[in-house]
Amino acid sequence: MAVIAQKCPEIDVTVIDINEKRIAAWNDEDVENIPIYEPGLSAIVKEARGRNLFFSTEVDKAIDEAELIFISVNTPTKTYGIGKGMAADLKYIELCARQIARVAKTDKIIVEKSTLPVRTAEALKNILDNTGNGVNFQILSNPEFLAEGTAVQDLLNPDRVLIGGGIATEKGKKAVDALVAVYATWIPNAQILTTNLWSSELSKLTANAFLAQRISSINAMSEICEKTGADVEEVAKAVGMDSRIGPKFLKASVGFGGSCFQKDILNLVYIAKSYGLNEVADYWEQVIIMNDHQKRRFAANIVKTLYNTVSGKKIAFLGWAFKKDTNDTREAAAIYVADHLLNEEAEIVVYDPKVKAEQIYADLEYLETHSSEEIHRRVKVVNTAQEACKDAHAVAVLTEWDEYKKLDWKSIYDSMLKPAFLFDGRRLLDKEEIEKIGFKFNAIGN
Ligand code: UDX
Repeated sequence: MAVIAQKCPEIDVTVIDINEKRIAAWNDEDVENIPIYEPGLSAIVKEARGRNLFFSTEVDKAIDEAELIFISVNTPTKTYGIGKGMAADLKYIELCARQIARVAKTDKIIVEKSTLPVRTAEALKNILDNTGNGVNFQILSNPEFLAEGTAVQDLLNPDRVLIGGGIATEKGKKAVDALVAVYATWIPNAQILTTNLWSSELSKLTANAFLAQRISSINAMSEICEKTGADVEEVAKAVGMDSRIGPKFLKASVGFGGSCFQKDILNLVYIAKSYGLNEVADYWEQVIIMNDHQKRRFAANIVKTLYNTVSGKKIAFLGWAFKKDTNDTREAAAIYVADHLLNEEAEIVVYDPKVKAEQIYADLEYLETHSSEEIHRRVKVVNTAQEACKDAHAVAVLTEWDEYKKLDWKSIYDSMLKPAFLFDGRRLLDKEEIEKIGFKFNAIGN
């Protein structure tokens, strides 16, 4: 929304949320204090805020005034009832729809921005049409493909913008055109793709499933590499040079994280199962099974390498965020690796340049596998990599922050217990250089 506001100064954009604290943070005088860290975002907020970008908790007022409403609430994996652990929880979407239906007095275009199961628009339309005040609602699907850490760049130069709508009717076509016009301000028309609603909804799940599948595929190969003496980076390069395969998203890692991949694949699996498509469901579920395996085996390898016990041993974690350049920790591999090591009674010291200590503790407490007391006793959070590694038995790289490449690894090595082990879950460091310092080095897929 900030990017739309920046690119379309003639459109008033109001971001509304019921969480007062969060809205207050978005309105913080110092733009560096906005709640999301994303390169380039604070500058855009600074430029547009107060001009045509507003943050507010006055939900009804904003609904009443809007012509286009983007529903961007979360659709987490259901934690209860039918579809528990798989289906998307659409509670917040439905609450939004009901509130819009109650408040709206003029025709509106409703845009699904949240990632949703295919055919959700149908349910939305039902709710809006049956509880509304006789106003006309057009529903569009406009999934978001940005990735965190590069969000602003992705929005400014997207590969494509996808808009699904009821193009068969005159009103539906007009709604699609209205949204196309917003994006056409800065995106070439050829990159704005319009489809029917169901294709658009399903394309978002498909894109995420394909991306995650590539990572699980290369991670599966990383395990074979470790057994055979092949190097996964070399394999990825050789394979990726085939133009039909392409070089991107072939980086072996300790496992993918983030708020989307796992959730969306589980959702896809659930949809397939609910249509009785069990082979399709199993096929996609394997992407998740492989990813869980990768995190587990990274932790198991640390235990095995440290002479089959890490009880009471200090392991330094470099990185907690699910990838670099974000403070987001949702489904981060580090959380699960830490949990496995806590099962083995390890002591963990974490340094991440952007993630706050309270978040790290909250992530571990959320798993409910260890008591809060134990987590606080065994896990420490510090402000530098050097501090994290002092007197440690091993250091594990869990996020590929650029600054870890530039660390004084020699002085880190000197401050650690010997033999000093380094586990690179991100293929970030140069094996030869690290081994020359004296580390016992262990990288995914090598
Ligand atoms: C993803 C999709 O890329 C984006 O299009 C969609 O809108 C939201 O979900 P995001 O979760 O922000 O974006 O991050 P992404 O860059 O896709 O990375 C996801 C995870 O995969 C990270 O943990 C990352 O470290 C990992 N990853 C990515 C790999 O392990 N190897 C790779 O080659 C690429």
